[in-house]
Amino acid sequence: VNTESTYLSKAEQLDREDPLSSYREQFTPPDPGLIYLDGNSLGRLPVRTAESLHEVVTEQWGNSLIRGWGEGWMDLPRRLGDKIALLIGAEPGEVLVCDGTSINLYKLVMAAMEHQEGRRRILSDELNFPSDLHVLQGIVHQLGPGYELDLIRSRDGMCIDFDSVRDATDKKTALLTFTHTYYKSSFVQDMAGITALAHEKGAMVLWDLSHSVGSVPVDLKTCRADLAIGCTYKYLNGGPGSTAFLYVRRDLQKKLQQPIWGWLGSKDPFQFGTLYEPAENIRRFLVGTPPILSMSAIEPALDLHLEAGIYALREKSLRQSEFLIEMFENWPAGLGFTLGSPRSAGRRGSHVVLRHPEAAAITEALIGPPEDRVIVIPDFRAPDNIRLGIAPLYNSYKDIYTGMQRIREVVESKEYLKNR
Ligand SMILES: Cc1ncc(COP(=O)(O)O)c(C=O)c1O
Repeated sequence: VNTESTYLSKAEQLDREDPLSSYREQFTPPDPGLIYLDGNSLGRLPVRTAESLHEVVTEQWGNSLIRGWGEGWMDLPRRLGDKIALLIGAEPGEVLVCDGTSINLYKLVMAAMEHQEGRRRILSDELNFPSDLHVLQGIVHQLGPGYELDLIRSRDGMCIDFDSVRDATDKKTALLTFTHTYYKSSFVQDMAGITALAHEKGAMVLWDLSHSVGSVPVDLKTCRADLAIGCTYKYLNGGPGSTAFLYVRRDLQKKLQQPIWGWLGSKDPFQFGTLYEPAENIRRFLVGTPPILSMSAIEPALDLHLEAGIYALREKSLRQSEFLIEMFENWPAGLGFTLGSPRSAGRRGSHVVLRHPEAAAITEALIGPPEDRVIVIPDFRAPDNIRLGIAPLYNSYKDIYTGMQRIREVVESKEYLKNR
């Protein structure tokens, strides 16, 4: 049986051997007594982002003023999109950074439903992110009689298995939409298998990549995925509420029409014509003026990801989550926890879920400890999940060790009881 000190030495050794360890210094250090395990909700602030935003505000906005639109601002949705494309296996000109995640979902689902004339069924699953399900419910309501949304049930509350998807997909299905990495359990869906199945039945597929982008490699091109969306404020560290992205496979771009006909999606916005005619390429999925300040915050961390390499990041993330799970499996009787994520590394994203009947009180105790104890920030998802997010760009093995040790202490000492 490994002792806690064995794990401490192991964490220190893994940190020494970590080829990505220097990236940690690229992030603004938080309070030294704080262990951040929530990069899957809101990524940390890169040092370069603070500097770059200052420059965008003072130099670009301050000095360039309106000329900024001709000096790069107008190209930003596409330029950032091309960088994100490199992380998700898309080609240049297939990704745009624009609007919010839920809004991009709305735009692309509406476009797909119009394209799939004669088919009125949307298929998703009960473990999908609530906002996605709400948007889908709203679309079915808006499209009116005959349109339906069916949700596949999970057999174990953690995964949606391929057979369930196959059984639920029929010739009436217009669109399948799933999350690639599930927000609660971290389960990674079979993108290649499901996309092929959908196409066989004449349906389109839309993937939500919010919990994958920047931590789990995605290969939209090889899978021939139709559509995708995702956010940039989690592993991509774009800042709170940063602008989202959308992907439309090149051959579909001219065939799909999005529902919000704004001027920047039109063929020639600066002709100021009164009649809308969509742009012929990915630009038709834009709506209005891009939020330059918010979007500028995305680029520095994106560059760090491209430099580190998505496969190297995945390798580290898996090694880190294995280390975390090994520590958990060494706890006597799991201290009352069960693993809420798939045990198989290939089916797990970059966060690990530990489930406990007292999860809410334990999380509170971790975030608000006595003064002489380290603050650990994970997040809680009802009813009993503690999500431990591993951001391989800045989390060390020692972070994981310390976070897990503190969880153990909170549970063994019953310190959490005061938060019940
Ligand atoms: C998987 C997933 N999809 C969609 C959303 C909603 O994104 P937004 O609030 O940017 O619209 C989130 C938010 O956390 C998410 O985790």
